[in-house]
Amino acid sequence: MGEYQLEINGDSHDVSAPDHWTLLEVLRYRLGLTGSKQGCDKGDCGACTVLVDGQPVLACLTLARASEGRAITTIEGLMPAHLRAGGTGADPLQQAFDRCGALQCGFCQSGMILSARALLERCPRPSREDMRDALSGNLCRCTGYTQIFEAIESAVAEKLHLQPNLRSWEAQRAAQEPSR
Ligand code: FES
Ligand code: FES
Repeated sequence: MGEYQLEINGDSHDVSAPDHWTLLEVLRYRLGLTGSKQGCDKGDCGACTVLVDGQPVLACLTLARASEGRAITTIEGLMPAHLRAGGTGADPLQQAFDRCGALQCGFCQSGMILSARALLERCPRPSREDMRDALSGNLCRCTGYTQIFEAIESAVAEKLHLQPNLRSWEAQRAAQEPSR
């Protein structure tokens, strides 16, 4: 059993957990931060993605102790960080995912959004190719990815004050309905 501290979403947490526990296990089963999902638990799906010093990391393959002294961001930390920076509401990517219907079951969503957040920090105007690369480790069984890419584009457009090429879920549905 190890005793150590982790810095998560700007707060310091005292952790007492077996030395072999992964970061994902500590987040979910010691600290109650269940936004990071336990999908495959072997590095295949990306559902457990968190940011460590701003870089996407698979929490299911990372020993919790190895993250000591580093800045960990989980999905729970995005909105508070956005508010601290003077924003309103959820992180703009979270809002864009909502706006664009970029989720169905939602299991992939926290990992997707954190990978996308890291992408936008290093590349404020990503191409579709950049997005495919950045999200290549995040699997989604539901959406077919189109709305996810559109959500990222919508968040980028909003930040740059451009007219978003928004194809929201409502707009798609309206387009499919016969005219009255
Ligand atoms: S749960 Fe970590 S990659 Fe699938
Ligand atoms: S929304 Fe279900 S796995 Fe992506």
